[in-house]
Amino acid sequence: MNNVARKILLSLTLVVGIVAASTHADAAQTAADIAPTPQMGFNNWNSTHCRAEFDEAMIHGIADKFIELGLKDAGYTYVNIDDCWADGKRDANGNLTPNPARFPSGIKALADYIHAKGLKFGLYSSAGSWTCEPKKENHGFPGGLGHEKQDAALYAAWGVDYLKYDNCNNEKIDAKQRYSAMGEALRATGKPIFYSLCEWGENKAWLWASAPPVDGNSWRTTGDIEDTYASMLRLFKQNVVLDAYARPGHWNDPDMLEVGNGGMSDVEYRSHFSLWAIMAAPLLIGTDLRKVTPEALHILTNKEVIAVDQDALGVQGKRIRVRDGVHVIVKPLHDGSRAVVVFNEGRSAKEVKVAADELGLDKEKTYTVRDLWEHADAQGDGAIRVRLAPHASAMYRIRAL
Ligand code: GLA
Repeated sequence: MNNVARKILLSLTLVVGIVAASTHADAAQTAADIAPTPQMGFNNWNSTHCRAEFDEAMIHGIADKFIELGLKDAGYTYVNIDDCWADGKRDANGNLTPNPARFPSGIKALADYIHAKGLKFGLYSSAGSWTCEPKKENHGFPGGLGHEKQDAALYAAWGVDYLKYDNCNNEKIDAKQRYSAMGEALRATGKPIFYSLCEWGENKAWLWASAPPVDGNSWRTTGDIEDTYASMLRLFKQNVVLDAYARPGHWNDPDMLEVGNGGMSDVEYRSHFSLWAIMAAPLLIGTDLRKVTPEALHILTNKEVIAVDQDALGVQGKRIRVRDGVHVIVKPLHDGSRAVVVFNEGRSAKEVKVAADELGLDKEKTYTVRDLWEHADAQGDGAIRVRLAPHASAMYRIRAL
């Protein structure tokens, strides 16, 4: 081979190498790579709303608690901040800037603090001219509409791993158009940024948000959760029928957890957590972990329940029965086993039976039925028989022997 031929071959190899590397880089950023399972983490909104206690010291404290309380070990990864982090005005260059009283060290420093603990950092904005707060007076905090590229580039520079993108003050511009603009801008940064749409199900995001050019990783299917049993129940009912739309990379989001905030009983919080897990919903803790009670922590760190939410098969549980206020939801898991939640929404206790064939089990086989709250096994044909107190649920994992 002469020199010219060698040079051509060398540059060809180089070009092939570069193309392969960039294909690899692109491949590392598909939605399924960013969100193979539903997101787990924390968001301050449900515990603080816009109150002054929402600040840098609080978020540092939360990140510390992720480690101290074993939440990181349990799979919680994202530490996300919600509305009211920003200043009322963009800076002279048109960039968003943090409220200096709440975040005096800046957002990059906050992201660095969180990353140093092996965690990820999430931020909030709105696909509108302003965010959602404050609701009454003059608009408070600038939104991303028309600033998508600049904001996405800033997020990437700050080390943001996750964007929750709200729907307030949207100037009646088509939702798909607004959410596509940010989806494209986030991908153009070349950084894997989790894209969480928050249009409250107003435009049925499940029908369009999982496909490019939006390519969202999750979309809210409901309005805002409140810390009441009635609110949790309503959101569950809206979300449970949307199972066909969830898959790895793209999840239905019935809003964040209220576990630990005090408005429901422990029985109800256990149902809330079990229902969210069987629906492969995001598990975003909404309570101030610096003050969490042992019972709330016990619920939030149930690793067997979390494993159902995070199962690699990535299927949202399907409701196979709703009768007499009792819901039965079944979720197939990657190892051939299936998870089941039996939930009693009503005010009186119920004796519930679910036959093996209703669960799709083989009558010839023997099964281990593991109670995921009692952490105890029973063997038999896989049928479930349980007495449920009002608002209570039971959760199982059923495996063939
Ligand atoms: C909307 C969202 C909430 C929260 C608030 C913040 O209501 O749905 O989850 O982010 O805005 O203002």
